[in-house]
Amino acid sequence: MTLPPVIAIDGPTASGKGTVASLVAEKLGFHYLDSGALYRLVALASQKQAIDPKNALELGVLAKKLVISFKNGQILLNSEDVTEAIRTEVIGLRASTIAVHPEVRRALVGVQQGFRTAPGLVADGRDMASVIFPDAVLKVFLTATAEARAERRYKQLIAKGISAKLSDLLQDLQERDARDSSRGAAPLLVADGAQVLETSELSVDQAVKTVLDWYQSKIS
Ligand code: CDP
Repeated sequence: MTLPPVIAIDGPTASGKGTVASLVAEKLGFHYLDSGALYRLVALASQKQAIDPKNALELGVLAKKLVISFKNGQILLNSEDVTEAIRTEVIGLRASTIAVHPEVRRALVGVQQGFRTAPGLVADGRDMASVIFPDAVLKVFLTATAEARAERRYKQLIAKGISAKLSDLLQDLQERDARDSSRGAAPLLVADGAQVLETSELSVDQAVKTVLDWYQSKIS
């Protein structure tokens, strides 16, 4: 039995992979997995329960127990709507701190692979191509310069009415890049066979079109 096709889109924070991946999924009628949301959910739950971000064992147990559901654009954690609550910078930073633990990563493997259903899946994250879906038909490493990414994050926050300082955002994302790239478990890297898409000078539409063209040339 052949499994449904997967397009894996990995990349650093604020590279726009979420926007691009969800649009590619929409165009193809595929399912979409935002794997970062899962790490953010563990971060939020662990904060609520005051678990030390260094306590790998307890975090692993917590990650296994979480009841998570994605419904009509809403994200529910133990039936509470946390769609907005997981998007703060504080939770993003905590997510990258707890994501270093193999116990946490292992607990989330099955949940992520469960998203692979017909007709196909577009999955975005850090280790989609290297660990979760090594047999992905297309592997994309989507990136942009740190400055371009900080500016995108800044505009996103301001549009939501959240005040932000560009220099703080730049520093935060450089810290997050360093932690995501240097960790032992599933570090952020350009996977074997991945195609790099540098988006600093590209519009969202251009990036989406490039991924769709790459996918067509893989399957034709
Ligand atoms: O929105 P942003 O790109 O900043 O982050 P995210 O994709 O929501 O992920 C939050 C954090 O979870 C990242 O900084 C990573 O440390 C971690 N993560 C991971 O380790 N592996 C994944 N597949 C996805 C996210």
